[in-house]
Amino acid sequence: MLGLGYVGCVTAACLAASGHHVCGADRDEHKITSVRAGQAPFYEPGLEELVREGSSAGRLTATTATAQALENADVALICVGTPSERNGNLGLDQLRRVTEDIAAACRSRTKPLVVAVRSTVFPGTCEQVVMPLLAGQNGVSVAVNPEFLREGAAVKDFIEPALIVVGGNQPEPMQRVAALYSGLKQKPCLVALRTAEMIKYACNAFHAVKIGFANEIGALAEVMGVVPEEVLSTLCTDERLNISAAYLKPGFAFGGSCLPKDLRALQYRAARLDLNLPMLQSVLASNDEHLHRAIQAVLDQGMVRIGVVGLAFKENTDDLRESPVVTLLEHLIGKGRDLRVYDPHIQMEKIYGSNRNYILNAIPHIGRLLTPSFEELAGWAERLVVTQRPSADLARQIRATGLPVLDVARGLR
Ligand SMILES: NC(=O)c1ccc[n+]([C@@H]2O[C@H](COP(=O)([O-])OP(=O)(O)OC[C@H]3O[C@@H](n4cnc5c(N)ncnc54)[C@H](O)[C@@H]3O)[C@@H](O)[C@H]2O)c1
Repeated sequence: MLGLGYVGCVTAACLAASGHHVCGADRDEHKITSVRAGQAPFYEPGLEELVREGSSAGRLTATTATAQALENADVALICVGTPSERNGNLGLDQLRRVTEDIAAACRSRTKPLVVAVRSTVFPGTCEQVVMPLLAGQNGVSVAVNPEFLREGAAVKDFIEPALIVVGGNQPEPMQRVAALYSGLKQKPCLVALRTAEMIKYACNAFHAVKIGFANEIGALAEVMGVVPEEVLSTLCTDERLNISAAYLKPGFAFGGSCLPKDLRALQYRAARLDLNLPMLQSVLASNDEHLHRAIQAVLDQGMVRIGVVGLAFKENTDDLRESPVVTLLEHLIGKGRDLRVYDPHIQMEKIYGSNRNYILNAIPHIGRLLTPSFEELAGWAERLVVTQRPSADLARQIRATGLPVLDVARGLR
């Protein structure tokens, strides 16, 4: 275990408790002296007992010499700090140094070694920093095994993890790292190297967004005389759309007759109440940015005949109100692009009322752009742009055309 801070020491003590032989290395002599004396180097519930038991059983040892820690090791877990630099960037000095120490130690080793990075590092760090420093060391492979513990509950989080992730480019080292956790109920997710690096940022950002969301909704509720706890606990009882995987797939921008309207009303009311809710206020701006990335990607296709698949704001509806596809089409028309549109649920003669008014107001000649069948669209277009998750049948037809496809809905993957 390279680095015996919060992550390294907890991991070392828990792995020792599950029967592994662990040698921890740290440059900080105080940590080494503590672990050798069977004491946790900092307070973390349950850690002191595990360090004491591991140390007295001889399964947990510690040293200031990286080479000594690696002497008989099968796996090296890097748990050094990756602190923020002044500009917010991730500081990789400790990671570089420990990797250089590993490379130096490996010169006198013959046994294979899996080096797994447990510290939080940005996608690409292993390939750009760790692997080059270890290049030329026979039998050394690299994996990523991010840590998800919460300080204050770190030992419990290790024993009952919510998530275990192992990333890599080769199956054997990944299996080797995954096997460290074979005694736990949770099965490791085996993913690509960069996914394992990214997932930690995704999780932490998600947690921060959840806290910000709960606090902003709570603040608004309070000002409006509503009990925040009741609102959020009721929200959490919906495990289908709220506390679930729903809406957590990357895809196209949102639209429709509800989300934009209700977010605007919420922003307006908060401003009237002198309540600054920057996170909720940024959601529509974030959605617009996402839409503009898609518009740019379509414009980057050049002056070709573009067949757009999907016009409504999502699949399985003919509702065109505030459909982001309408904005996309307006931009393409404005830039002189030649386009046609197909939507399995939209025929001009069948839509009416506010829906019809909305589209005719935005694109008066929409009737001329709509094609009645996918075959007709595919026969005319040079490229397809898919803006909704297609049905399995339509997805098959899209693939069968052999046309280049820009899948802004990410529904074909
Ligand atoms: N603390 C958390 O709750 C937590 C949770 C998940 C992930 N992480 C991530 O895990 C990593 C470690 O976090 P931490 O809180 O344990 O950091 P920490 O600062 O508590 O521990 C890092 C340890 O590494 C040691 N070290 C530095 N360079 C070394 C070297 N060359 N050889 C040996 N030891 C060396 C330091 O002396 C220190 O004891 C960070 O990337 C962090 O972002 C932290």
